[in-house]
Amino acid sequence: MKTYWDIVGDGGSNVAAQVEAQTARLRGRMAHVRRKVAVVSGKGGVGKSTVTANLAVALAMDGLRIGVLDADVNGPSMAKLLGVRGRPLRAGPDGILPPEGPMGIKVVSMDLLLPSDETPVAWHGPAQQESFIWRGMIEVNALREFLADTAWGELDLLLADLPPGADRISHLTGLLPDLTGCLVVTVPSEVSHLIVKKAVSAVRDARWAPTLGLVENMGRFTCKHCGAPEAMFPGGDTRAMATAMGIPFLGSIDFDPRLAAASDRGVPLVLSHPDTPAAEALVRIARTIHGWVEAV
Ligand SMILES: Nc1ncnc2c1ncn2[C@@H]1O[C@H](COP(=O)(O)OP(=O)(O)OP(=O)(O)O)[C@@H](O)[C@H]1O
Ligand SMILES: [Mg+2]
Repeated sequence: MKTYWDIVGDGGSNVAAQVEAQTARLRGRMAHVRRKVAVVSGKGGVGKSTVTANLAVALAMDGLRIGVLDADVNGPSMAKLLGVRGRPLRAGPDGILPPEGPMGIKVVSMDLLLPSDETPVAWHGPAQQESFIWRGMIEVNALREFLADTAWGELDLLLADLPPGADRISHLTGLLPDLTGCLVVTVPSEVSHLIVKKAVSAVRDARWAPTLGLVENMGRFTCKHCGAPEAMFPGGDTRAMATAMGIPFLGSIDFDPRLAAASDRGVPLVLSHPDTPAAEALVRIARTIHGWVEAV
């Protein structure tokens, strides 16, 4: 075992210098990215990744050069949603070359590194029962490495799909410096609203970037029998919550089984069914985000 004197400083491992060098590389890469937006929710399963994938495609259709960072190391889904699963990351002269999804969207995800579907990412702490303590730190290191080593090239916008959990927000702030802002996704249930408020507070407390907008997902569905729109969840009024928090409400996306089916095929709805109300709502939201990219 190392003694106290051995571990004063970084124990001779030079970790501090390595992190510094990586951070410098990361800043160099990010200098070629005009805008960065993080998609957050607090609550899991509300459709962050689905919304991110569709917005990425809608913005790319609008002519922007888009990169997507799947910051969900343990539950990566962007490779599947953008149809690049199974396409490995390749090494080029300038760094890792991310595979390109629809409309040339560059995708980086832990999913592209894991050897099989069943392999989870396991964090091993010095003692297994302590691994949760290390998880946040190791996740951040993995993502910093991804960001620093990827040859993103020139991008107009990098969208980062964050894992659920308000606590994860503070871990990730150092990774995406000069973030343009956060996009918050919620479903209109009171439970989701409760947790979204915590996520918005976590973003504010981290002094990271402004929350630029709130998106409601799975707001309504169309009745199969009468064709009338019906609320998916009773209760929560997302527009009112956005107003109360002083955040722009960007729009509501309908629940549509075709969206889930298209996502499972790796073809975002805005490509497969552009005429649906859900796809049209996503395109309108993308236009607002395009405005953030162009804003000085
Ligand atoms: N508007 C929608 N209509 C129908 N299905 C949807 C809609 N939005 C998302 N889904 C489905 O809901 C499920 C969860 O979506 P998704 O994985 O995007 O959520 P998430 O917030 O990223 O989850 P996590 O917190 O685990 O990262 C997926 O099966 C997706 O296809
Ligand atoms: Mg997700």
